[in-house]
Amino acid sequence: MPKISQKGQLMPQSPIRKLVPFAEKAYQQGKTVYHLNIGQPDIKTPQVALDAVKVHSLDILAYTRSEGSEGYRNKIADYYLKNDIHVKHDDIIVTTGGSEALLFAFGSIMDVDDEVIIPEPFYANYNGFSTASGVTVVPVISKIEDNFALPAIEEFEKLITPKTKAILICNPGNPTGYLYSKEEIKKLADIVKKHDLFLIADEVYREFAYDGAKHYSILQENGLDDYAIVIDSVSKRYSMCGARIGCLVSKNKEVIATALKFAQARLSPPTLAQIASEAALSTPQSYFDDVIEEYVERRNVLIEELNKIEGVQVANPKGAFYCIAQLPVKNSDKFAQWLLESFDVDGETVMVAPAAGFYSTPGVGLNQIRIAYVLNTESLKKAVNIIKQALKVYKD
Ligand SMILES: Cc1ncc(COP(=O)(O)O)c(C=O)c1O
Repeated sequence: MPKISQKGQLMPQSPIRKLVPFAEKAYQQGKTVYHLNIGQPDIKTPQVALDAVKVHSLDILAYTRSEGSEGYRNKIADYYLKNDIHVKHDDIIVTTGGSEALLFAFGSIMDVDDEVIIPEPFYANYNGFSTASGVTVVPVISKIEDNFALPAIEEFEKLITPKTKAILICNPGNPTGYLYSKEEIKKLADIVKKHDLFLIADEVYREFAYDGAKHYSILQENGLDDYAIVIDSVSKRYSMCGARIGCLVSKNKEVIATALKFAQARLSPPTLAQIASEAALSTPQSYFDDVIEEYVERRNVLIEELNKIEGVQVANPKGAFYCIAQLPVKNSDKFAQWLLESFDVDGETVMVAPAAGFYSTPGVGLNQIRIAYVLNTESLKKAVNIIKQALKVYKD
């Protein structure tokens, strides 16, 4: 039989999706499964976006420009301006989700064997995108005891080698919920300028900042035009994960010109989804106010309930809609599988994402899980109670 590529063999499975077959078995057994494993919000997509797809007047569902339709990019630039981010339409390439923007960014600035420094735990697919691009992830560990704050700058500097091309942060963070302060962004800006590196910020959760804190984008930082690349997406902002629309934003013209070549190779982002995403930009502020209020309530309930469980440690998220919880178990992979296969409370169980896949350092995060608080508070309470009851009887 012909052989699978080395790269293909190295591609990691998604820790978020790998337990799906066990969840399916649980459904077959008639169990209800609370999904805390995946960042698929249950929030309704704005009506304006749904309506735009229903009433469009296209005769031919044609390709758009590879960089995305100009009308849409102009409106995205207006959206950024409202967020005090000054970019023009030609600083933006519309992509098939933030996922493709990450691939384009990696492809545009890194060669095989180059290194990217990422504070871990990090969004698990950064491992996948790095493997696909032949790039090595160099993790810098952020700790649950510090609420996952940015590690000291010296920790980054220790890791910089001639192969280092970029630092990648996720702000607010998936899976930690950490929101970087302006001061932390400034420190990162200093270090990338000093060592001539790119700074990639995945800001797909920009709107999800809590407790009065304000998100500070790397694109707001003066003097960073040549270094900053932002990854963005409509998936979470408008609960439009299935639209598959995101964008890559940079004021570095060479980065944009290079990313455009990758964009041309895949021809065009989806046309109908751009129409929906353009319409979504007129979503009223009241939608976000309600959504944020809802997530804050969910977070508060989740953290309060988790803190009541003996032996569980949890960091308090300041943004996004995830948290990492440390459990009194040796191996959360096994625990998560066991929850689906062998445990229920009155026919109900819970699916969580084992956190080891959010680290690239082997052996770290084995006793942690990532929880996405994408369910209503009643369901969250039930789900946490299932974890609590499970921990009473689970044997490693
Ligand atoms: C941090 C982060 N970046 C990027 C993505 C990719 O999202 P999409 O491709 O749906 O825009 C996700 C999805 O969960 C994410 O959590």
